[in-house]
Amino acid sequence: MTRVFSGVKPTGHLTLGNYLGAMRRWAAVDQHRSDALFCVVDLHALTVDHDPARVRRLSRQAASLLLAAGLDPELCTVFVQSHVDEHARLSYVLECVATDGEMRRMIQYKEKAARERGGSVRLSLLTYPVLMAADILAYGTDEVPVGDDQTQHVELARDLAVRFNQRYGHTFVVPRATGPAVAARVMNLQDPTSKMGKSEDTGPGIVYLLDEPDVVRKKVMRAVTDSGRDVVYDREERAGLANLLEILAACTGGDPAELAGGYDSYGALKKDTAEAVVETLRPVRERHKELCADPGYVEGVLEDGAGKARAMARPTVDAAYRGIGLLPPAGASR
Ligand code: TRP
Repeated sequence: MTRVFSGVKPTGHLTLGNYLGAMRRWAAVDQHRSDALFCVVDLHALTVDHDPARVRRLSRQAASLLLAAGLDPELCTVFVQSHVDEHARLSYVLECVATDGEMRRMIQYKEKAARERGGSVRLSLLTYPVLMAADILAYGTDEVPVGDDQTQHVELARDLAVRFNQRYGHTFVVPRATGPAVAARVMNLQDPTSKMGKSEDTGPGIVYLLDEPDVVRKKVMRAVTDSGRDVVYDREERAGLANLLEILAACTGGDPAELAGGYDSYGALKKDTAEAVVETLRPVRERHKELCADPGYVEGVLEDGAGKARAMARPTVDAAYRGIGLLPPAGASR
């Protein structure tokens, strides 16, 4: 069966963009058709200035939201990265296969480092794509469902897998990135040319999964559009409008261009979009609330998940240790 691995970084509250662009599909499709692992990648949250209590809180919340979004521990493995030592173990070995130049070419690193403007950049920000490669390669992953901003990192994981296999013997499956089939790329409501992210930005252009319905309505009603009057679907010229139509389409299962034909004012479109988003998020919020009332359940799921993940990763990481020349400890079975 195809092995799928993806991760969410607990650096901010999860957004409508995370849900429509990724999580919803993991629950509806990936967990049913593949042997899938979904990981709260908390080690990755330490690569930038962070508050320990907040990372802890967001990690717990991300795990609950993955379950609230419909991931079923009977069908897939949900766990927290730092609970499974194999990620860090393998990351070091892969650092011995990757090069400094390769790391410095990563677009995300260049962008984030530039944003630090003279401040200090953590070494882990530079090496983070290697840890991400370890996340992926430890599990013999075939497919990594991620957004386009991550394809360069998955490319690196492929390169490292191929290089390791050539030099030290076949150890890793060579993974590939899979974008969502129907690209639900949700853009910031206040800046429709940039993605509705979670980490760095905050503010009125971002709908969070746990926003109250009235907050969601307000954010959608205040979305930036343009000065035109007719409702047409044109991503290039009418980005704000296109974003609303795409959100509405993603929530109702329609087609953005067709939906456009049904409106003659921005107000009506915004109103319907707001309601569609509220309805789409309602079950997630409700399930999340139930899960919060039962923290022992979520902890149990994460404990089982970590156990399963460890058992899957261990043989591959051990093989990598042997292959690269590390002496097996006495008493190791091989
Ligand atoms: N880097 C990813 C992001 O910022 C998160 C991530 C970490 C990830 N490890 C992963 C995604 C492994 C897929 C597979 O969104």
